[in-house]
Formats: sequence, C-alpha cells, structure tokens
Amino acid sequence: MPKHIIIDTDPGIDDSLAFLLALASPEVIVDGIVTIHGNASTTQVTTNALSILELAKRSDVPVYRGCELPLVQPSMLSPETHGNTGLGYAQLPAPQSQAQAQHGSDFMIEHIMSHPGEITLVCIGPLTNVALAIRKEPRIVQAVKEVFIMGGAIRHQGNTTPLAEYNTYVDPHAAHIVFHSGMPMILTPLDVTYQCIFTTDDLSRLQKIDSPITKFIADSTRFYMEFHDEYQKIDGCVINDPMTLALTFMPEICDYENLYVDVDISAGVGLGNTFADFYNYDKKSPNMKVALGVRPRMFMELFLERMEKLAKPNS
Ligand code: BDR
Ligand code: CA
Repeated sequence: MPKHIIIDTDPGIDDSLAFLLALASPEVIVDGIVTIHGNASTTQVTTNALSILELAKRSDVPVYRGCELPLVQPSMLSPETHGNTGLGYAQLPAPQSQAQAQHGSDFMIEHIMSHPGEITLVCIGPLTNVALAIRKEPRIVQAVKEVFIMGGAIRHQGNTTPLAEYNTYVDPHAAHIVFHSGMPMILTPLDVTYQCIFTTDDLSRLQKIDSPITKFIADSTRFYMEFHDEYQKIDGCVINDPMTLALTFMPEICDYENLYVDVDISAGVGLGNTFADFYNYDKKSPNMKVALGVRPRMFMELFLERMEKLAKPNS
C-alpha cells in the first residue's frame, strides 16, 4: 500500500528534487504540498512549487500556501545557497495553476484529522506550519501517522552557524514546539545528509537523457554546486531533502538511534543548535528516531534511477 504524504517545503533546489523523487516513486502518493518561508519568500516558493509540478506534468497535486514568517525570529532567506528565486540557474515558466485558497496549516489539520493514522508528514523546510498546526489542533499529534523531518545537526557541525542547521536555525521556536509535541518523528540531520554528495558524475549520468527534467536538475544543481564549492569546499552538492523523502519508503538507507533531542532557543551562539542526550543524563524518554548512519550509494542509486524514469519520454 503506498503511503499518503504531505510535503511541507521551501523550494529550494533540494526541495524540488524531493518533489521529483516523490512523483517518480509509486511507494508514495502526494496528497498535497504546503509551502513555507525559508530558502526564498513564501510567495516565491509557492510559485516554485507550482512550476515544478507543471514541469513534472503533475499539476493535479494541490499546493497550499503556508506561513510567511518564523514564529519569533525575523525572516532569513538563503539566496547565496539557492539563488534569488530559490531554484539556482533554472528558469521555469510562470505557472498556469494557482495555490489553493486554504492556508497550509489548516489543510494539514483537516487532512490529518479526516484520515487518522494514515497521513505521513514530510517536513523539509523550517517547521513553522507544523508548529502552528499543533497549536491550533493538538489532536493532530495522535492522528498523524509519522513525521519525517529534515533538520538539525547532532554530532555534525552546523551549515548556517557553527552549531546550527538551516531549518532549525530559521525557526528554532517552531522546531522546539514540534520536538516536544509527542508526534512520532524521524529526524534526518546533517550527520547523514552530508555523507551523500550528488556529484558531476551523477549529473552527467542524468544528462544522457535529454529532457526538461534533466535540464532543470542540471541548471539548479550547477548553482548549488558552486555554493558548496565556495562556502564548504565540497565537490558536488548535498541533497538533504530528497534523502529525507527516500526514507519514507526505503528506511534501510539509514541506521537509527532512539534519542531525546532538543533544540536551543536561548538567544546566544547556540540558537537553533540540536543536541541529543546520548548518555541519558536527563532521564527523559526518547522523543524521536534519529538517522545517524547511512549507505550513501544506496540512496544515490535510488535517486538517479527514479530521475531517469521520470525524465525518459513516455515513462
Ligand atoms: C536544509 O536547508 C535548506 O537550505 C535545504 O533545502 C534543506 O532543507 C539543509 O540544511
Ligand atoms: Ca528545504
């Protein structure tokens, strides 16, 4: 039985690749996409989500616009990482379709509550929409099937401050609400995503297929690779979000530990830092499953095969 998922997202180069992976994977059905401020403004990422669905000829998937700003912090976009539009050098036509009228948080609540135990949330941006949904309707905590979260850096250094990963840094207060909610969570932190590098060789393999999909992947990841080279001396780019999506149906890509994880919301150098109580000093029960080991090529082969399938004419 395929899993029904909602993707909560700020597309975003790697977010876009996560959509494409979901749309190419029969193991999941995308019931809706909810947008969130992050890599670009909510207006921009909503446009991007619609354009990417049109690129994949899947405008039947509804898009819901989510929160405009973090709960407490000021907005922090990331043009240096994803470009001014959020999609690197890719230039997609303006979408013909429109976002739904309902707010993204309300869609989450309504959809989860009307299908108890059946909906998987895949959160690959700042967690503002999910935190708001929990505050508006706390019963979603019991009704949601599971929540996959791309965020945090447990033993790994941060990618936004020395200590913090981008999604938890941008809205640490939202992450705090979600982490303490009691939802069944699976965290994909930088510890595993930074071991999976999409390289120019991987890109060349996809470019053997001449298609708008492979052109989009090339144009967007070229920008992302330049960022990784300039800022982090990484040859290639880290595609965090599709890896998180892949775990919804291929969990064996990673090894996990059940841990109590918290996020720093004190105003200081640690803001947004995520940390796990490995030695159980605080005697608290684990609040999530954390991916800490990974088989990088298992993920990359899956990703490349699915992108080839999506890009091939008549597939
Ligand atoms: C996360 O931050 C964003 O820039 C990416 O899309 C990903 O979700 C990685 O830290
Ligand atoms: Ca993202």
